Amino acid sequence: MSFQLTEEQKMVRLMARDFARKELEPEAAKRDKEEIFPTEVVKKMGRLGLLGMMVPVEYGGVGASTVSYCLALQEIAYSCASTAVTMSVANLSTEPLLKFGNESQKAKYLFGLAQGELLGCFALTEPGAGSDPGSLSTRAENKGDYYLINGTKIFITHGQYADVVNLITRTGQDKGSKGLSAFIVEKGTPGFSIGTREDKMGLRASNTVELIFDHCRVPQKNLLGREGIGFKIAMTALDSGRIGIASQAIGIIRACLDESIRYARERKQFGKTISSFQAIQWMIADMATGLEAANLLTLSAAWKKDHKLPFTKEASMAKLFASELANKSAYLALQIHGGYGYLKDFKIERLYRDARATSIYEGTSEIQRLVIARNLLKD
Ligand code: CAA
Repeated sequence: MSFQLTEEQKMVRLMARDFARKELEPEAAKRDKEEIFPTEVVKKMGRLGLLGMMVPVEYGGVGASTVSYCLALQEIAYSCASTAVTMSVANLSTEPLLKFGNESQKAKYLFGLAQGELLGCFALTEPGAGSDPGSLSTRAENKGDYYLINGTKIFITHGQYADVVNLITRTGQDKGSKGLSAFIVEKGTPGFSIGTREDKMGLRASNTVELIFDHCRVPQKNLLGREGIGFKIAMTALDSGRIGIASQAIGIIRACLDESIRYARERKQFGKTISSFQAIQWMIADMATGLEAANLLTLSAAWKKDHKLPFTKEASMAKLFASELANKSAYLALQIHGGYGYLKDFKIERLYRDARATSIYEGTSEIQRLVIARNLLKD
C-alpha cells in the first residue's frame, strides 16, 4: 500500500490547480453574486479533458484514474465550488454511456462528452421524487421506433447548458424501482424545454433548472441498455457521482482551512495575533485532521473503483463524512473570522453557503447512512 501520488497524479493535480487559480478564482465572487454560469471557462475545461476524465482513450478521453479525477476536482472546488459541481455532474453523465451504452451510442456521444464538445447532465429528481427516485412519474411510452416522454425533472445541474441529458423515466407498468429506464435526450428535441431556473442560496454560478418533457419524441435507439434497468443505471452513476461530491467538499474544507490560517496569522486582538490563542488553534487542528481523514476516505473509494472492487458503501462514507465536515469547517472558519466572515467581501461567506448543498444533493447525509447501513447489514 502506498500513500504517495504517482507522477501522473501529481501532474494532473498541478494542471487543475494552475487552471483553477488563473481561470476560476479571480472572478468566482463576481460570478456568485451575479449568478453567471462560466460558459467559456467550462468549454476550456472540456478541451483540457476535465469534463470526461475517466473516459478511455479509445472513446476520445484521457483515460485518467478516478484518483486523478478526485485530485483535479478538489483543486477546482478550492477556487470555485460552483464550477466543481459542473465538473462533477459532467463526469457523472459519462458513466451511464460508458457502462450501459452500445457502441453506436458511445461513438455518437462519448467522444463529444470526453473532449468538451458536448456537455452532459443527469436528470433523475422530480417534484415528488427526491430521496426516493423509485417513485418518479415521468413516463416514456414505447411507440415502436420512438418513445413519447411526458413529465418534469427538477434541480437539474447545468440543465440549461447541457447538450445531452441522461434521463431516467418510467417505462413499464411495474411500480417502484423496477419499471424505470434510461435515455439519452438531445437538446433541441421537440417537446423538450427548460423550465424555471432556481435562485439558490449557494453554488450560484452553477446553473440549476427544471426540464420539461411534453410529448417529447425520443428515438428508440436512444434507450440505454434495455427497458427496466433505469434505476440500476442511476444508482451506478450516483455511486461514482458521490466520490465527486466528496472531492468537491474536500476542496471547500481545504479553502476554509487556508482562509482560517491566513486570517488567524494576521488578525490581532488583545495585543497578539489570534493564532496564538488555543481556542483558534484547536479549531484549525480539528479542520486539518478532518481534512486528512476525508481525503483518505475519498481516495480509498476512488482507488477501489479504479481496481474494479465494490465501492458503493465507501463512496457513501466518503460523501457523508466529507460533506458534513465541509459544513462544520465552514462554520469554524467563519467563527475564526468573526464579524468579517459574515461579510460578502470575504471568501468564507461564499464557502459557508456553498458547503451546505454538499450534504443534500446526490443523496442527503441520511440517505448515505441508509446505503452504508444496508451494505453492512445485508446477508
Ligand atoms: N448499484 C447498482 N444497483 C443498485 C444500487 C447500486 N448502488 N443500489 C441499489 N441497486 C439496485 C438493488 O440491487 C435493487 O435491485 P433488485 O431489485 O434487482 O434487487 C434495486 O436497485 C432497488 O434497490 P433498493 O431496494 O435498495 O432501492 P430503494 O428504493 O430502497 O432506494 C436508495 C435505495 C439508496 C435510497 C436510493 O433510492 C437513493 O440513492 N436515493 C437517493 C437519490 C439521490 O441520490 N438523488 C440525487 C439526485 S441527482 C443529483 O443530485 C445530481 C446533481 O445535480 C448534483
